[in-house]
Amino acid sequence: MALLKLNICGVRNLCRSSITFSTAINFFYGENGSGKSALLESIFLLGRARSFRTSVIKSIINSDKDQITISGIVARKNGNTFSLGLQLADKKNVIQVNHHGNQKRSDLAYALPIQLIYPKSYQLLDSSSQIRREFLDWGVFNSNDSFLIVWKRFRKALTYRNFLLKKNAPKQLDAWNDELVAYGVELADFREQYLNKLNPVFMSVIQQFFDGDPVELKHFSGWGEAVTFSQALSDDLAKDLRYGFTHSGPHRGDFQVMFDGRLAKNYVSRGQLKLIVISLLLAQVQLIITEGGVPPCVLIDDFAAELDIKNRKKILNYLAHMNCQVFMTAIEMADFGSLNSLQNYKMFHVEHGNVTAV
Ligand SMILES: Nc1ncnc2c1ncn2[C@@H]1O[C@H](COP(=O)(O)OP(=O)(O)OP(=O)(O)O)[C@@H](O)[C@H]1O
Ligand SMILES: [Mg+2]
Repeated sequence: MALLKLNICGVRNLCRSSITFSTAINFFYGENGSGKSALLESIFLLGRARSFRTSVIKSIINSDKDQITISGIVARKNGNTFSLGLQLADKKNVIQVNHHGNQKRSDLAYALPIQLIYPKSYQLLDSSSQIRREFLDWGVFNSNDSFLIVWKRFRKALTYRNFLLKKNAPKQLDAWNDELVAYGVELADFREQYLNKLNPVFMSVIQQFFDGDPVELKHFSGWGEAVTFSQALSDDLAKDLRYGFTHSGPHRGDFQVMFDGRLAKNYVSRGQLKLIVISLLLAQVQLIITEGGVPPCVLIDDFAAELDIKNRKKILNYLAHMNCQVFMTAIEMADFGSLNSLQNYKMFHVEHGNVTAV
């Protein structure tokens, strides 16, 4: 899977442009405010129909335009190509996949899977567990076709159960408890199995940065380790009724990285934390590739920030051997380090919204 060509019109300060990419690594450098993140945002928009920077579409639309139009040509692994198109206006979006209109966001997500690494990603380990559940669920979604249906059924059971808790109707809970336990246990199992598969891949990435230090991934199902989910729901009933929501379950599931037996987020330096997060996100992509799935495009914004030159080189080297398409930004061309050993890459200069191949 590779994005061969991108046409952009109306995204922030970017001039109307048509860009042809390398199927390997694409580098973008330019001054602050030149439009590098806006370019990655355009690729992300084409894959998700939403931005990674804001939920207010209007703020992304160029101040002189009333809508965004992005289109692209994507190549499959077998060499066949297809087109993607997106029009975004304040209250309307039109998605086209291979010239078929009225497509859904999920159609885009399947057509152009994307793994994003940007400054906010580094909160993965030290902010709320929601972002770690999203990390797990994105991974499971990409490796298990039945995940989405189980996830939706679990959410539905949880919504109804919480509704009944708020109405203080304990007698009606039984039907939803059964659904909640059935799908909740399945969901937690999916995540656990996924982490078990991710673990060796993560180890192989992380060992480049921390040679020999014991690092491990630990899963938390969202209820006490010593009890079943069903038992946890019975134990919590009085508390759940008092507060009007379900305290235990995979909606509170989590994982953590343990470093030498301690929580990594409380122990390692900022740069090291960043390396752990990059390793986790790249391991997810590597696992998809190893399992024969559709390799996502990897977007890395502000590549150089807080990483020393030695570690940047290791990351670049890993990316070069991954067999997936990469888009990365930095301020100076030199921030990417030496590119002598790379093949088939493309370098772009971004200046006042113009993207030029150099
Ligand atoms: N809706 C909009 N219309 C026009 N210009 C916009 C709009 N939104 C943002 N901009 C401008 O677009 C420019 C590009 O922003 P972007 O975040 O892409 O820069 P960048 O190259 O990533 O910079 P940095 O190195 O600081 O991260 C900024 O100068 C910003 O003010
Ligand atoms: Mg930026």
